[in-house]
Amino acid sequence: MPGTSSDTLEYARLLSSAPEDGLEDESGLKAPATTHSPRSRMLVSVLMTLLAIYAAAALHLSMLSDTPLLFTPREIEAKLRMAVPSPNLDKGRNIIYEKHYKYPRMLFPGSMTRVNAAKPDMIYYSGASVVLSPTDSMIYHWRVKSTWPMCYITAWVSAAEDLITAHKSYSSEGNVTAIEIWNLTSPEDSKTLKSMSWNTRPARVSLMGTVNFTSVRTQRGVGDLIGQELRAPTPRFGCLGETDITVEVACTACHLEFDQIFSTPALGFEVMNLG
Ligand SMILES: *[C@@H]1O[C@H](CO)[C@@H](O)[C@H](O)[C@H]1NC(C)=O
Ligand SMILES: *[C@@H]1O[C@H](CO)[C@@H](O)[C@H](O)[C@H]1NC(C)=O
Ligand SMILES: *[C@@H]1O[C@H](CO)[C@@H](O)[C@H](O)[C@H]1NC(C)=O
Repeated sequence: MPGTSSDTLEYARLLSSAPEDGLEDESGLKAPATTHSPRSRMLVSVLMTLLAIYAAAALHLSMLSDTPLLFTPREIEAKLRMAVPSPNLDKGRNIIYEKHYKYPRMLFPGSMTRVNAAKPDMIYYSGASVVLSPTDSMIYHWRVKSTWPMCYITAWVSAAEDLITAHKSYSSEGNVTAIEIWNLTSPEDSKTLKSMSWNTRPARVSLMGTVNFTSVRTQRGVGDLIGQELRAPTPRFGCLGETDITVEVACTACHLEFDQIFSTPALGFEVMNLG
């Protein structure tokens, strides 16, 4: 066996910065992120590549000779992906490390009910159909049971090709980059939110912020937006324990329609829960 043990140590150290197992251990994270110079990172990439070539050769050999594999092709792939993180991923991760967050969990709403100012007595029922316009708002409700302390609300639009594959789509007109999220009073009985008219909707408390209903992938490519939802204009709020979150989603300058369905890829307005 060629002497790969020191390379394997590098793997282990790099692996400690992987999102799956590294985030809980802050010291383990910061070391590789801050002490690796670009040169040593390059060296690591080179070693990875060599090791991948070696492993591929080993795979080939093993098919001939039946000796056990050093790594499965899947493991090699996983390791290579971590060896070359994109700069944006690093930036987003750094914000998460600095603020001591774990990766967010996405929480699907318990009810989504349309209300229509143009038909103020018309009762709508909670369902997947989302309609926003200058006269149509959506009342969303979540009952969050969380051991993680913080939440924020976001618009999540998966990449177009993923939506197409899953037969999901939306139609939009106007400016969907600043859809308003209003905090509402939560009623005693959240079942009342499952059928509502404009006239019986809960009162607005305050404007919490705005969300950007454009592709998450595109937003990740815009430097200024990376990690924006950890700050204003869609700020975090405390949601430890059991919390009722009732909001009105309103768009004064757009028309937007889609079905919000509990399946991947995600499309809709979501509560994100942060550790
Ligand atoms: C969309 O609306 C927001 C908030 O009013 C504004 O800041 C932004 O410039 C608008 N974008 C476009 C493309 O009109
Ligand atoms: C929303 O308003 C309610 C009632 O005033 C308040 O208790 C709650 O903290 C507010 N939530 C947020 C996220 O601002
Ligand atoms: C919304 O996201 C798009 C990228 O999808 C970006 O170009 C735009 O500046 C964002 N707008 C706001 C108000 O954050």
